Amino acid sequence: MNGKRITLIIGGGIAAYKSCELVRLLRKAGHQVRCVLTKSGAQFVTPLSLAALSEDKVYTELFDLKDEVEMGHIQLSRQADLLAVVPATADLIGRMAAGMADDLATTLLLATDKPVLIAPAMNVRMWLHPATQRNIETLRGDGIQILEPDEGAMACGEFGPGRLPEPQSIFDAIIAMLGGSPKPLAGQHVIVTAGPTHEPIDPVRYVANRSSGKQGYAIAEALATLGARVTLVSGPVHLPTPKGVHRIDVETAVEMQAAVAGNLPADAAVMVAAVADWRFPSADQKIKKQDGAPPVLEPSENPDILAGLCRSPLRPRLVIGFAAETEQVIDYATTKRMRKGCDWIIANDVSGDVMGGDRNSVHIITDQGVESWPDTDKAEVARQIAQRIADALA
Ligand code: C5P
Repeated sequence: MNGKRITLIIGGGIAAYKSCELVRLLRKAGHQVRCVLTKSGAQFVTPLSLAALSEDKVYTELFDLKDEVEMGHIQLSRQADLLAVVPATADLIGRMAAGMADDLATTLLLATDKPVLIAPAMNVRMWLHPATQRNIETLRGDGIQILEPDEGAMACGEFGPGRLPEPQSIFDAIIAMLGGSPKPLAGQHVIVTAGPTHEPIDPVRYVANRSSGKQGYAIAEALATLGARVTLVSGPVHLPTPKGVHRIDVETAVEMQAAVAGNLPADAAVMVAAVADWRFPSADQKIKKQDGAPPVLEPSENPDILAGLCRSPLRPRLVIGFAAETEQVIDYATTKRMRKGCDWIIANDVSGDVMGGDRNSVHIITDQGVESWPDTDKAEVARQIAQRIADALA
């Protein structure tokens, strides 16, 4: 997407500081940002910081005659591809809903014929107040895009919806509105392993596990959507190849290890596969049933692909392992992260119907501690992991 012009209106709220990071992200992606500070916005961020980050003049007052000569407010609102209000306070939302034009920000918003996105941020009670909700519905009816506030601990000490989403999420919403999808992983190579491995016993039999490959495939797809070059090393599964992903089919753990090694270097690796721990000497001919004497399988240990990759001179910058556990999920996974030497372990409890199912509830274990995500579908887990990876590689 070519550089677009964004008029960013910054309302007065403690979250206004996040608009600085948003300006930086937009500029880094090659877009032009023109900042308009409301009077109360200027109490939280200075025009100087915004001017430095946007590399442009910052507009503050409606009746600045010099600005009216150089660029009238109508022109200011028209010479943009999109207007974004970040943060949008209850007061600003109320004035927009009432169609007021009593300062530069509201005048631009009334005069514009361009798409408008607002990112509300305020105290939880103010956000949930019927007046605010009524105003939000009015704005929605006017065709304004509302980026719902996040839920969490607030600067005022309360908890609930009302927090300004992180700058990256606001950036993504702006880019999506402008008709592009953000590609933060463009130019990055990520290897993903997925599915089970099959360890043959003879030409017609093998030892396998219940992995469906769904979570790994969803991660490969989400990474490709963010612009990554994805090599998906897949055990035997019944799934279509995700769009834009290079898939290499393997059967055994030894083959999977060779395929991973053969596709390095990579910027990140996500090892989702449920690799068999053991392999067996495979008979050349079908083992025949013998009276009363079942065959003795003599297992030997498979290579640990994840641990090997972490010790490799070609170790990717970010290596992520998975841990499927049926008990003491977090404890086992925390130990596993240390033992394998990977950066993150994504742990899930597979005692239910996670394997083969469409939902997953995961815990992310990093050197910062444990973060538990609520139960959600595997595609959403994948999108969030992909976004995390993009943030970590940025
Ligand atoms: O040791 P365990 O199988 O529980 O570890 C799970 C993690 O290690 C997963 O990320 C899996 O893909 C990886 N693994 C591997 N090679 C093995 C066994 C597991 O890469 N032989």
